[in-house]
Amino acid sequence: MKRFIVTGGYGFIGSNLVRLLLKKKFKVLNIDNFSYSAQKYNLRGISKKNYIFKKIDINNRNKLRKILINFKPHGIFNLAADTHVDRSIDDSSNFIKNNIVGVFNLLEAIKSIKTKIKLIHVSTDEVYGDIKGAKRSNEKYTYDPSSPYSASKASSDHLVTSYVKTYKLNALITNCSNNYGPRQFPEKIIPKMIFNIIQNKPLPIYSKGKNSREWIYVDDHCEALIKLFFKGKKGEKYNIGSGFNCNNLFLVNSILKRFKKRKIKIGSKVKIKLVRDRPGHDLRYALNSQKLKRTTNWRPRVTFEEGIEKTIEWYIQNPEFFKNISKKLFTKRLGLL
Ligand SMILES: NC(=O)c1ccc[n+]([C@@H]2O[C@H](COP(=O)([O-])OP(=O)(O)OC[C@H]3O[C@@H](n4cnc5c(N)ncnc54)[C@H](O)[C@@H]3O)[C@@H](O)[C@H]2O)c1
Repeated sequence: MKRFIVTGGYGFIGSNLVRLLLKKKFKVLNIDNFSYSAQKYNLRGISKKNYIFKKIDINNRNKLRKILINFKPHGIFNLAADTHVDRSIDDSSNFIKNNIVGVFNLLEAIKSIKTKIKLIHVSTDEVYGDIKGAKRSNEKYTYDPSSPYSASKASSDHLVTSYVKTYKLNALITNCSNNYGPRQFPEKIIPKMIFNIIQNKPLPIYSKGKNSREWIYVDDHCEALIKLFFKGKKGEKYNIGSGFNCNNLFLVNSILKRFKKRKIKIGSKVKIKLVRDRPGHDLRYALNSQKLKRTTNWRPRVTFEEGIEKTIEWYIQNPEFFKNISKKLFTKRLGLL
């Protein structure tokens, strides 16, 4: 039985990945320092048979080293990070600490035990910066990050590449587009809009709502990560995207439309409100994911229509998810200079 470590396993993507790995009968050790975006609710109800949790910071190199020696993982999926661009604009200290120095400590821990553990370092499409026109960035595209968040992820990607070249670590990097689905912290646009509709609040969209993102259902991302553990090559980068782009106005209108279709009463305050833009806001991200498809035969299984329906359904069926999170953490506007 393969053994995997997931770092950041109480977060959005991490918890969905832990669930998928357990479903596939792998043994999982979750390492999370339980920062503000970690939710106990995200792993509620999982079977503990093949699952262990250690509350550890990836900056704690000694503890990481001991875990690697004792647990003897075949692979590590590194998802531990600070992830909200607006927070990185207000104060990037945690982004430098967790996304750069944290990855450095993780790499050092792996390097110190001299094994062939395969590291899947999970990064983002935001490292490529604004993608103009109808182009899509492939893995050879120059890194050109615009926010402290994307710059911290880009730095960590460079560190990983340097450890493969210099110390022969067995690692690869994945650059994924915007994820959506169950268990996403409501500071991010989709759960935030769902929360606001349920709570009869306005729906704030930055600038004119024209910013375009490529949306992938979280399970499709997690399937791609597992496939890359088995088929991905050391030192390579792989983009992971669905190919489906839309702008924020389209996105929020799609969510509203689905609430109406379910005959859910929409309160009078639920109206799209265009608000001041985020500084350094990239207009468009779009990936070319042909390399992943060629290498692993992966294809996205969930269309946007199915995925957004499933996502809305999950948040409606799980009101405790929102209740367990302090409103202060996601209702205040951040990232304005
Ligand atoms: N959400 C997206 O759309 C998206 C897209 C592409 C890539 N990514 C990447 O995927 C990863 C996970 O993103 P997410 O949306 O699930 O984030 P999230 O904020 O929901 O979860 C991050 C998790 O990491 C944990 N963590 C943070 N710092 C840590 C540390 N020093 N030690 C241990 N645990 C720590 C947090 O407690 C939390 O549980 C990130 O690396 C992010 O850059 C996310």
